[in-house]
Amino acid sequence: MMKTIRWKCRSVLKLMIFVILVGLVIYGLHSLNKAVKKMQCSDELSRDMLDALCKLYEKNKVGGNLCDDICKTGSIKLKKCLNYRGGKKIFLATWNMKTIILKSKKGYLRDYDPIWYQDPNKPNHIYPSVEEFAMTIRTTIQDRISIKLPGRLDVKMLVNQMWSVGYDEYFNNPFQKNPRESGLDSIYSLLQQDEYLMMKHFQGSQFFPDIYGTCGHFYAMEFVPPGTVLDPAIFSFKDESTWNQRRIIALKLLDLVYHLEHNFHQPLHMCDVKNENFGLTADGGVKAIDVDMAYFDENLKFLMNQENCTKHSDCDFFDCRGWCDFKTGYCSDRRINNNLQAVCSDVFQQKLGNAFKGLLRRPPRQLVARFNEVLEECANPSAIQEADIRLKAPDETYWKLYNLLLESNADLLPVENGHLHDHEH
Ligand SMILES: Nc1ncnc2c1ncn2[C@@H]1O[C@H](COP(=O)(O)OP(=O)(O)O)[C@@H](O)[C@H]1O
Ligand SMILES: [Mg+2]
Repeated sequence: MMKTIRWKCRSVLKLMIFVILVGLVIYGLHSLNKAVKKMQCSDELSRDMLDALCKLYEKNKVGGNLCDDICKTGSIKLKKCLNYRGGKKIFLATWNMKTIILKSKKGYLRDYDPIWYQDPNKPNHIYPSVEEFAMTIRTTIQDRISIKLPGRLDVKMLVNQMWSVGYDEYFNNPFQKNPRESGLDSIYSLLQQDEYLMMKHFQGSQFFPDIYGTCGHFYAMEFVPPGTVLDPAIFSFKDESTWNQRRIIALKLLDLVYHLEHNFHQPLHMCDVKNENFGLTADGGVKAIDVDMAYFDENLKFLMNQENCTKHSDCDFFDCRGWCDFKTGYCSDRRINNNLQAVCSDVFQQKLGNAFKGLLRRPPRQLVARFNEVLEECANPSAIQEADIRLKAPDETYWKLYNLLLESNADLLPVENGHLHDHEH
């Protein structure tokens, strides 16, 4: 009798614990789901941003070559938003039959600094002349790109270079209503977006997406998605990509790294290096799609030695590793790693931080040891023990990795013991 009661008590207790646990799990999943939804952008809010832009356009308060397509003809259509709340606003859209990306750092024009000022005694905003404003364009480019522009670049050339409508077509057009205000507000909001500035200035480079045009503070760019090879979903259990697909992207990424290092007036440092910040073009090229944190040498030096520090990692600027001068207690102005080290460690290598994403995951069996070795040498040059110190990966490592990638062409490798060398499937 006692035994049955005790047994019953125990099973009731077990049942209760089970119910509570299930309840907790369901509650946990529900809150997680809510938190994720809260973080993601909503299509309504994105729609609202474009509606607000178009209202300004109707009132001749913004301009740009794509305003008609977004606001009048409807040939640019919003499909969905891709960003997280708080970040840049990024919309997937179609332009006639073509897929494009619309981007703006902030959702509304009013979120940008104005170029006008308000005289308390006058009702209207006071704007500089277009000629005066040319000085702002010039200094913004000079500061951000770290170059000295030739003095002969006049207002026309500066506007033509940095905007989507030609100077004469907009500012000297008798049919254009309110050109100075709408033009300057639009250009000034674009100048406040580092990515636009950088990409627009380097149009024609095979390593940056094409900019198709602008309307107000939004710019339209080439659709260059990271795709599932470079950026597989976290919960995908089956890897759809083959070694050769990954190998070819890695070679293109190395070309990009070489270009950043050698082909500009100064090395261009990528300080936010991760798979999803690179994209693939339809013809297999690799482009840098997020260059908000790309800095030329001189600019990075300035950014890096602002802080005081007690350890080296205090001086890191995201993926640009810094160095603490313990004598002075201030960060030194040099970056101690380089783009190659960051790409090897954060994109190529399979490691905890980017589990399953490491682009050079699962090389051909006969080359695994050599890949491990060269990737380790690249991700941690001189095999430094301290986790907060990573040095520059040398050119020698670059070419070693490049040649190994060429050598590892799965179509050319001998078939091992009757097995496929590419042991994906
Ligand atoms: N030109 C583009 N083509 C395709 N997808 C893009 C493009 N630009 C951005 N994206 C998508 O949006 C994501 C976030 O864009 P990104 O510019 O990196 O913004 P953030 O600064 O918020 O990281 C990218 O990881 C990519 O998936
Ligand atoms: Mg990004």
